[in-house]
Amino acid sequence: MNRLIIFDTTLRDGEQSPGASMTRDEKVRIAHALERLRVDVIEAGFPAASPGDFTAVQSVAKAVQNVTVCALARALPDDIEKAAQAIRPAASGRIHTFIATSPLHMRYKLRMSPEQVLQQTRKAVHQARQMTDDIEFSAEDAGRSETDFLCRIIEAAIDAGARTINIPDTVGYNIPSQFGKTLRTLMERVPNADKAIFSVHCHNDLGLAVANSLDAVIAGARQVECTINGLGERAGNAALEEIVMAVRTRQDVFACDTKLDTTQIVNCSRLVSNITGFPVQPNKAIVGANAFAHESGIHQDGVLKNRETYEIMRAQDVGWSQNRIVLGKHSGRNAFRTHMASLGNHFSSEETLNEAFTRFKALADKKHEISDDDLQALVTEITPAYNHIQLIDLQVTSGTGKIPQAEITIRIDQQEKSTTATGDGPVDACYRALESLIHSGSDLKLYSVNNITQGTDSQGEVTVRLEKTGYLVNGQGSDTDILIASVKAYINGCNKLLNLAEKAHPERCHV
Ligand code: KIV
Ligand code: ZN
Repeated sequence: MNRLIIFDTTLRDGEQSPGASMTRDEKVRIAHALERLRVDVIEAGFPAASPGDFTAVQSVAKAVQNVTVCALARALPDDIEKAAQAIRPAASGRIHTFIATSPLHMRYKLRMSPEQVLQQTRKAVHQARQMTDDIEFSAEDAGRSETDFLCRIIEAAIDAGARTINIPDTVGYNIPSQFGKTLRTLMERVPNADKAIFSVHCHNDLGLAVANSLDAVIAGARQVECTINGLGERAGNAALEEIVMAVRTRQDVFACDTKLDTTQIVNCSRLVSNITGFPVQPNKAIVGANAFAHESGIHQDGVLKNRETYEIMRAQDVGWSQNRIVLGKHSGRNAFRTHMASLGNHFSSEETLNEAFTRFKALADKKHEISDDDLQALVTEITPAYNHIQLIDLQVTSGTGKIPQAEITIRIDQQEKSTTATGDGPVDACYRALESLIHSGSDLKLYSVNNITQGTDSQGEVTVRLEKTGYLVNGQGSDTDILIASVKAYINGCNKLLNLAEKAHPERCHV
């Protein structure tokens, strides 16, 4: 009862953020980072949603050892079968099956009566239980469901073999005191409640996902479902780093704690941001660049005299000092490979290792001290599935009184193409030139630049969001030259679009 289970759903609910889709290799990289963070459960995907989701869950199940790998399934025989198959290679696997229980969802979405939903729950949990012992059941939209019906369905799910009962606030409608009360009521009224662990899964539509989750923990929930950086559908899910640090920091309030190695938090946050292209806002709790920065003189003076005057946590406890300067231009291939492995980046072939090492050397020539963040950014660019289009050469001229002009050479599927274009600014000129070569036909929805590390020799990390026929992708590029980073980001986005089209991704079945 004094252990709080952390169920991370960055790879499933997090991936449902528009534009945050991840490749199989990216999911595996994040899964390794989550394993180092020591989360208890990784929800790796929704295998019935697409063949790509299926193989991603399977790959994560093979890749990690010390964490339970979970697959999501609707309460339908085919979904459950696919989830069971996908988690088969896992050292420890879980099936998470769900069905909606609110009057609104049952009537309009499922077109089923409450009795039918109850029956389907029993069948689904029973079927899943034939495949593995570790079954989680979620009552989707529990936050707007009737308490009496919730009690009946939870009792049935536990009776059929569910070990974890998850209460999602699917649309982020609840407020803290109310949500905690719901948990307390359910745990008191369901006759077999003592045979399951109660879990919560809160969305952030009203900005209350973390507060609601914590209120439920005070009421007795012992699993929280959350995501790194609060990534997730719409306004996102409860942010893992906030839940974990609130519980750890306020042990006077919480009767439980997690087993996480919190010094891995910042690394995980940066990796997820780097892969998905969702920047972390500077004032974000725990992982924002300003989270431990003191600007006002009074605060700085106080912290110098006694850190606790204005800091309730130590920056190094969440991993702020971990981003060391690790490698330089004299580092060899072996040191590079070993250090990359310690960050969870294992190269699938000598060819990808060579490519990464060549890029590392090029970067080390421009920037003498290379940090972990630089290395993670470097790997993100070398995802083999994306390599249809590559940048070969870029020359840009711009300045006061000049019309910006970009001259660009790229390789598209082994064929080199060059062109020149002008634009309103140098980035505009680059993108016009690229578009006249690639003809992606996509709309540029977002362009943003961030620095990866501090100082003027820092790499700039550019994120672009491209939209084409309903698909949204985030492209990323990094370089000490932000124009090159901008071009790489655009090319990365176009490669992702091509990759999606190639897979002829069947319609994703969003929850
Ligand atoms: O938000 C939700 O209800 C979900 C369930 C599938 C747990 O993501
Ligand atoms: Zn959700």
